[in-house]
Amino acid sequence: MRVAVIGTNYLGAAHAAGMAEFGHEVIGVDVDPTRVATLNAGRSTIFEEGLEPLLERHTSSGRLRFTTDYTEIADWAEVHFVCVGTPQSDTGAADLSQVRAAVETLGPLLTRPTVIAGKSTVPVGTAPQLQARFDELAPGAGVEVVWNPEFLRESHAVADTLRPDRIVIGTRSPDALATMRAVYAMPISENVPFVACDLATAELIKVAANAFLATKISFINAMAQMCQAAGGDVTLLADAIGYDKRIGREFLNAGLGFGGGCLPKDIAALSARANELGVTVLSELIGAVQDINADQRREIADLAIEALGGDATGRRVGVLGAAFKPGTDDTRNSPALTVATMLADAGASVRVFDPQASVVEVPGVEAAATVEECFDNSDVMLHLTEWPLFRQLDPAAFVTRVANPLLIDGRLKLDADLWRAAGWTVVQPGRAVRDERP
Ligand code: UDX
Repeated sequence: MRVAVIGTNYLGAAHAAGMAEFGHEVIGVDVDPTRVATLNAGRSTIFEEGLEPLLERHTSSGRLRFTTDYTEIADWAEVHFVCVGTPQSDTGAADLSQVRAAVETLGPLLTRPTVIAGKSTVPVGTAPQLQARFDELAPGAGVEVVWNPEFLRESHAVADTLRPDRIVIGTRSPDALATMRAVYAMPISENVPFVACDLATAELIKVAANAFLATKISFINAMAQMCQAAGGDVTLLADAIGYDKRIGREFLNAGLGFGGGCLPKDIAALSARANELGVTVLSELIGAVQDINADQRREIADLAIEALGGDATGRRVGVLGAAFKPGTDDTRNSPALTVATMLADAGASVRVFDPQASVVEVPGVEAAATVEECFDNSDVMLHLTEWPLFRQLDPAAFVTRVANPLLIDGRLKLDADLWRAAGWTVVQPGRAVRDERP
């Protein structure tokens, strides 16, 4: 099939490469000529495991290419996937300007039947509005808008694209549904669950999934606060409740909470839309999830300031990690950088090391070129993004580099016994067992 992918950043690049891997002819369109040139050279513009080999393979085979010119895709593609960003606006609601710009550019160029498959995360009720606009811009062409939410995780984008947990298609048209089944023939043949539904349910499935994941994380972080207050170990607690299949162990890692380009903005947009529709009980629930998440960042920054005797002015803080999670170079809404910035604002001299993410544009925060440099002469070290590299460090090799061997493990992922044995004082909020017994 001939497939166009509009928007080739985090979501679109993986989706375009995945579509080519499914055997389709693919053209990706983006307004950014530099990104288009890089992708056409078979290179990725982001750090994402497995993406570059896939781009290389399919740009070389000729099955995949990228352009800035919508006229090349308009009547060529049988399906146009909309993968542009829907960032958070000042009100918390989703900013749909990129989606609308794509519709305004593509619409007038369409003269024959095609399916527009929305993948971007949008407020419920958006798809029928886009359908109405296409009907105005391309009357009689036979444009059918369907909703096909994307659930891929950064750092697993390729695997999630090739073998998703489920495929969701919202549509009112049997023909469009058949076209989408043909697009996804390969994963469907591998028994990936396929959910066909109406447009509103499809739009809501995406935000419900992200809201549930965020709620799980904030729940375990609230329990971490209980463990800290009462003397308990939130990691053991998560393991134990996670054995219950109805609960599951995933997304029960307590620590700094969630960040990134999706969870925080998607739940803010869901909350804004819930308020518009009068479903205040949902926005209240999301409000509590957001409050707990913000608390976690503040708490870690406060712990560091307390460890520095209540005054961070001029003190040296080393931060391990800048990306919002390991496996990516993405720092959008990164908990690690929020904490680093809070400490810089409190007057500390903050150095951050991350194996992939850049911190050059973070005011008051300096990038350490090596992990060793990050430790050198620090008064306190913070572990804020759980890259495997940090678990492999030899604590004994670093104890002499620092001014004070004090480590705050904000992700609860380091082997505290190992670090303590090497002479470190280790703080893991939420792991506060007072009554140690064999
Ligand atoms: C998320 C959804 O998982 C994905 O399905 C959707 O398509 C996009 O949003 P992503 O933003 O890539 O994906 O990150 P995710 O792996 O979900 O992690 C989000 C944040 O939660 C990270 O900051 C991570 O560190 C944090 N997290 C995750 C926890 O704090 N604890 C956990 O147990 C899991």
